[in-house]
Amino acid sequence: MKRLISAPGKVILFGEHAVVYGRPAIAAPLSQIRAYADVRSTDEPLTILAGELDRPPLRLPDAQPDSTDPLEMMTAIASRFFCASSVKGEIAIRSDIPIARGLGSGAAVSAVLARAIAALLKRELSPDDTNSLVYEVEKLHHGRPSGIDNTVVVFEEPVYFVKDRRLDFIRIARPLRLVLADTGISALTRETVAAVRDLYKKQPTRTQAAFDAIGAIAESAGPSIETGDWPSLGELMTENHRLLQALAVSSPPLDRLVAAALHAGAFGAKLSGGGRGGVIIALVDDNSRGAVQRALLAAGAKRVYATAIGEETA
Ligand code: PMV
Repeated sequence: MKRLISAPGKVILFGEHAVVYGRPAIAAPLSQIRAYADVRSTDEPLTILAGELDRPPLRLPDAQPDSTDPLEMMTAIASRFFCASSVKGEIAIRSDIPIARGLGSGAAVSAVLARAIAALLKRELSPDDTNSLVYEVEKLHHGRPSGIDNTVVVFEEPVYFVKDRRLDFIRIARPLRLVLADTGISALTRETVAAVRDLYKKQPTRTQAAFDAIGAIAESAGPSIETGDWPSLGELMTENHRLLQALAVSSPPLDRLVAAALHAGAFGAKLSGGGRGGVIIALVDDNSRGAVQRALLAAGAKRVYATAIGEETA
């Protein structure tokens, strides 16, 4: 048996950080940027090849669920889920999703690995169960994740997400065109989430007010996405960025990129994901896209991607 399995990257459009504290957030899959697993049945104990992720081959006759290695942990918890004492075969993992940029690389790799193990064991793995397994591994990356990353990556649909509530999928009327710009700076979400927690302890009233304002933005953004009202949506994005600055998770390179995108004609722009590094997203249309991409490169972006949410290809 040979099979290719894939999962998308993701982008948070509204509500990062506040979502950890129960406020709504909106995120969407990046269908063009994906992680892949090539699965091959063999008679040997499971080998995971992840050379593209700078990893030596992992041979896992006895993976440990309490390992701090995400691939080993997923192998262990997925085998336990299926009550399988051993898994045989080879899984080669590769990913186009930049690592530690808030684009869901960890969740996508975990999702393809869980599905690959199910395929080797010839067992079904429902989206809900995949989501729960990936969430367990996300705790390694995030400490106390809201669950938004694994949900978007596993269901591959734009979502209006509130922690511990039933999922709402968002219908997108017109493709939403984004330019993503990478600062080239890696940032650990676990650390930015901890920084926001410290700020909340020191300044509860002010921080709570920022969470409320971010939650209100995510609430208003849902209808603007559904109707395709880009000017309103852009304003909400830029306002969300200001509130993330108030939570001290932006940085001078991120602010420079947001300013450059706005100056070049984007409807709005904000950092996306944990912050302090990673990417910004700018909302554009066909007229402004080229100018925004050039402005972002001139302002120091290491890489820009033009993408569209709500259609197959950009
Ligand atoms: O994985 P990132 O960097 O996109 O961050 C996830 C979003 C946060 O709200 C910062 C954390 C969380 O668990 O929701």
